[in-house]
Amino acid sequence: MKKVLVAGTTGYLGKYVVQEFKKQGYWTRALARNTAMIESLSEYIDEKFIGKVTDPNSLTGICKDIDIVFSSIGITKQKDGLTYMDVDYQGNLNLLEEAKKEGISKFIYVSVFNAEKMSHLKGIHAKVRFEDELKKSRLNFSIIYPNGFFSDMLEYLQMAKKGRGYVFGSGENKINPIHGEDLAEVCANAVKDDESEIKVGGVDLLTHNEILTTAFESLGKKVKIIKIPIWIRNLFLATLRIFTSVKTYGPLEFFMTVLAMDMIAPTYGKHHLKDFFFENINID
Ligand SMILES: NC(=O)c1ccc[n+]([C@@H]2O[C@H](COP(=O)([O-])OP(=O)(O)OC[C@H]3O[C@@H](n4cnc5c(N)ncnc54)[C@H](OP(=O)(O)O)[C@@H]3O)[C@@H](O)[C@H]2O)c1
Repeated sequence: MKKVLVAGTTGYLGKYVVQEFKKQGYWTRALARNTAMIESLSEYIDEKFIGKVTDPNSLTGICKDIDIVFSSIGITKQKDGLTYMDVDYQGNLNLLEEAKKEGISKFIYVSVFNAEKMSHLKGIHAKVRFEDELKKSRLNFSIIYPNGFFSDMLEYLQMAKKGRGYVFGSGENKINPIHGEDLAEVCANAVKDDESEIKVGGVDLLTHNEILTTAFESLGKKVKIIKIPIWIRNLFLATLRIFTSVKTYGPLEFFMTVLAMDMIAPTYGKHHLKDFFFENINID
């Protein structure tokens, strides 16, 4: 039986990935900063490994007897005061060093769709730097480039709950967001996939106006969309860069960039955003 290390199990995507690997018959080891964080996933985890990607000493032996390493480690919402370079780059590099010592057969890493077009953004720059290290490592690898996750689309539902939704420019830029369960299948299937770079999005290609409309409709509320001119977004981002640290503007810079461009990835999966909104109408 092949053995997989899942790093990122405590996050939105990682929790689906560990379940998918188990479903496909793998033996799983999950990394977490403490046991309580993965208690609810115990039935899908054969062995828990307590450590921190940012502390290389705590990772010693993490890849022992492991065939495949999967990592969805990365900062999405800043909470530790660490930078993207500390976590997305160095944290994943610490894992890669352990993987190299044990001579694993494949390293699967989750980046971001269109990373190459956004490498000037701090968060993406750190990911691309790690990708370069992975490519240089001589390990067999797959880098997954997913579009926005359904979990992030909850922001639209929150806006709709408050009665007003905001879009940049015309709101006609398109995106095909993907559900964690669909993406987890792509990640686990990557073990046997010869493609080293896999771009993927969900089955619904929607404009931001359509996403907001779907959110309002799922709540049974009147649609109210406010269009913010692009120049205001640019001014806001420039001001943020001057007056705040990267920890604050980094995530905002990323979201405000992807909201103002087309993000159309090859499609995969079976989940629809409309259903996801209905399932989550009671979430605060
Ligand atoms: N969300 C999106 O729309 C989207 C789209 C494309 C790509 N991505 C990328 O996909 C990856 C996974 O996203 P996600 O939504 O699953 O993220 P998430 O829910 O925030 O999970 C991130 C994972 O990284 C770990 N992590 C973060 N900071 C850490 C730190 N300082 N030390 C140790 N571990 C740390 C978290 O562990 P703890 O729980 O211990 O903090 C968690 O396991 C990220 O790299 C993200 O940039 C996301």
